[in-house]
Amino acid sequence: MQRRDLQRLALAWAMSAWVGVSPAQAAGRRPSKGPSWQDNPFALGVASGQPRADSVVLWTRLLFGSADLAHQAQAQTVLCEVFADEALRQPVRQWLIETDARRGHSVHLIASGLQPASLYWYRFVCGNAVSPVGRTRTSPRVDDKVGLLRIAQASCQHFEQGHYVAHREMAQREFDFVLFLGDYIYESSNPKYRLRPHLGGEPHTLDEYRARHAQYKGDADLRACHAAHPWVMTWDDHEVVNDYANAQDNRYSDPAVFLRRRAAAYQAYFEHMPLRLGPDAEQPHQMRIHDRMAWGQLADIWTLDCRQYRSHQACPDPNRGGARVVVGCDELQDAGRSMLGAAQEAWLMPGLSASTRRWKILGQSTQMSATGVPTPMGRGTYNDAWDGYPRARERLLSGIAEANVQDVLVLGGDVHMNVAAQLRVRPNDERSPIVASEVVTTSVSSRGMGESVLAPIRENNPDIRHARADERGYTQVEVRPEGVQAIFRATPFPARDDSVLREQARFVVQAGRAGVERA
Ligand SMILES: [Fe+2]
Repeated sequence: MQRRDLQRLALAWAMSAWVGVSPAQAAGRRPSKGPSWQDNPFALGVASGQPRADSVVLWTRLLFGSADLAHQAQAQTVLCEVFADEALRQPVRQWLIETDARRGHSVHLIASGLQPASLYWYRFVCGNAVSPVGRTRTSPRVDDKVGLLRIAQASCQHFEQGHYVAHREMAQREFDFVLFLGDYIYESSNPKYRLRPHLGGEPHTLDEYRARHAQYKGDADLRACHAAHPWVMTWDDHEVVNDYANAQDNRYSDPAVFLRRRAAAYQAYFEHMPLRLGPDAEQPHQMRIHDRMAWGQLADIWTLDCRQYRSHQACPDPNRGGARVVVGCDELQDAGRSMLGAAQEAWLMPGLSASTRRWKILGQSTQMSATGVPTPMGRGTYNDAWDGYPRARERLLSGIAEANVQDVLVLGGDVHMNVAAQLRVRPNDERSPIVASEVVTTSVSSRGMGESVLAPIRENNPDIRHARADERGYTQVEVRPEGVQAIFRATPFPARDDSVLREQARFVVQAGRAGVERA
């Protein structure tokens, strides 16, 4: 059987409905005659995600130690138990799930029939092995009045460049969900900043991407943060390769070759994340990750895909593709260029215009506010963030303005700095009204730009009210009917294992009044 066919089968399996059984049935079918494991196969931990009022995705993936490799060829039956209490005395439901090598022995269970706005505890059992216990939470009913939504906003966790002290703190605090905005793994290395090395070289194949994800999940703080909260996720470039855009990588590889690599990376990503959908069964290089969820009447939250469907970066270096600062690039103004792709734009805009919830939160991978700087040749523009797609940004922001959509908050990542900024249809032009507010979170561990690069960005972009690239961490976003508060939690680079986060700055956005203000 060809690898492609195998993959297609695996994907068909991933899409197939899960077998749900009643607690009584499951009690009789508890997989006690499963394998007798030498090493606990739940070493990657457990996770939950994409919460809804009546369901949540529960995830694990079996890992086979050297003494258990004989089990790897076989399908395995995993029992998932959900409880209403931390002591696991009040069982709610159980499910039996079969998984096998075609999906990397990953388990994605849509745990349904749950109560809204409720905490649940869950674990998995396979043979003599029991997983760690995870805790998750369902969202409120879509029409519930909700007074508070607590989001932990995070992105960019280069394993080599720092420890996950941000996840350690997130795991210990109360949040409704973690909003992870991309660069979950990194494919590449920089020997100058290496606290702890990646295993193996740059991944290209499914097995190599699986190994990279498994190494990241080997971090106890990251596992603890997954076990503590449901995650709502989108991706950026490094889940596949630096600066990729649609079917083009930064080496101008043959798109057919690159799309095979993208399919492997997407499959490995799905196998390691608490997601409802995996790669498309027919077109495994495609995977829908953009999504929308409601948090009662308080907020609509969109997670956007800024990589898979975007136009290529404008005016790239012909010898080395990907991101750079461009000057005098007419292509930037091409109205056909898109960050989200036509279909995602067409999906987003009507929903945004019609939303009746107080806050409209756009979780997306990168920075929307402008960062251009003057050069002797003209204004220099970083072509990989929204600045490189100015007409697409204008379409989105003028659409918000024309439909008179209030209380839009854009949450971003990717650029390894904390940013609080005003969003106008014409950036940095005081005559153009502020139509939305932006909070970009710094990286969990990845190195940021130097102050000599950042200072001119700050000076030349008055819409940016706060920008610091020297610290690592995450952002606490507290959403209330009357306003949003963003608290940047941070520690200097590199984040060492004994680093402790403190508050770097705090910004508020008042309901009915677009724009960030220092608190
Ligand atoms: Fe990053």
